[in-house]
Amino acid sequence: MDHIDIIQPDDWHLHVRDGDFLKTVVPHTAEHFARAVIMPNLKEPLTTAQSAMSYKERILKSVPDHLNFEPLMTLYLTDHIKASEMAVAKAHGVVALKLYPAGATTNSDLGVTNIKHIYPVLEEMQKLGLLLLVHGEVTDPSVDVFDREAVFIDRQLIPLRKDFPGLRIVFEHITTKEACEYVQSVDEGLAATLTAHHLLLNRNAIFKGGLRPHYYCLPVLKRETHRLALLQAASSGDARFFLGTDSAPHLASLKEHASACAGCYTASVAMSLYASAFESVGRLDQLERFASLNGPAFYGLGQNTRQLRLKKLPLKVHDAYPYGLGELKPLFAGETLEWSAQLL
Ligand code: DOR
Ligand code: ZN
Repeated sequence: MDHIDIIQPDDWHLHVRDGDFLKTVVPHTAEHFARAVIMPNLKEPLTTAQSAMSYKERILKSVPDHLNFEPLMTLYLTDHIKASEMAVAKAHGVVALKLYPAGATTNSDLGVTNIKHIYPVLEEMQKLGLLLLVHGEVTDPSVDVFDREAVFIDRQLIPLRKDFPGLRIVFEHITTKEACEYVQSVDEGLAATLTAHHLLLNRNAIFKGGLRPHYYCLPVLKRETHRLALLQAASSGDARFFLGTDSAPHLASLKEHASACAGCYTASVAMSLYASAFESVGRLDQLERFASLNGPAFYGLGQNTRQLRLKKLPLKVHDAYPYGLGELKPLFAGETLEWSAQLL
């Protein structure tokens, strides 16, 4: 097969940062994706509808004129966010709220310290039909970093779903067999996003020939058995799994650092990576469901009308992009990928 055409995809989990950085990363996503769910973990987290709307305007100003792109906005849950803000958020078109357990990842210090603190907010979200997006890792330092997602399911997610059976939840960037199996066991109201890097890589990548910070993200890459489970889930046609790159740009100087930031930048080549992953298991026929159909269905949104062509054509990944005053290095920088993507 030398090419496949799919309905234009959406990215259901994306970080674009702010200020000058937007000019580098927004065009990369808008070149292939029609919409993206924008993460609210800015240095000053987005906790009000008003702040999300002005951020949306700044993002839209970075979209090249010849492209159409719709940022889908989210808010950041803190211990102090007001339940009354939920109706305001809904009225402004905010689609979801993001739960970062405090300290779990980049810019999560103001996240939730105890989920019980936000029960009134969750109650309101459930009522209004606002989605809950979860970074599913416990922060208990006594839990091994590779087990934090599996432990989150037992300690947080199962009780949460019991207390809010009508709340629609996306378990973001899942990385384990346990998470796949849990999502598969729930019939209604739970879905998961999967990144391209977790479909393509296992944790050996972080240590290959030296410590490789560009492969460091959170949740951290897991062992091969988990990668295979993720790939199976993503390519199974199961409507509960859909695309979310978690493309997370950081200055190269902060990745190549004694305390490297977590996050892989994949936005510019994301569809090439997903195509390779699906091809590796002979399931390119399922890529459209995963990338373009399952996400809108779960979010209750319409399908896109344009098409994206994926061609079996070598694609050299850029070494770096100018990024603010520094540079941004994409995952697989300098390597050649097998698929190229082009909007029709
Ligand atoms: O690797 C990650 N990077 N994981 C996250 O949860 C956050 C993200 C970021 O914002 O850099
Ligand atoms: Zn993320």
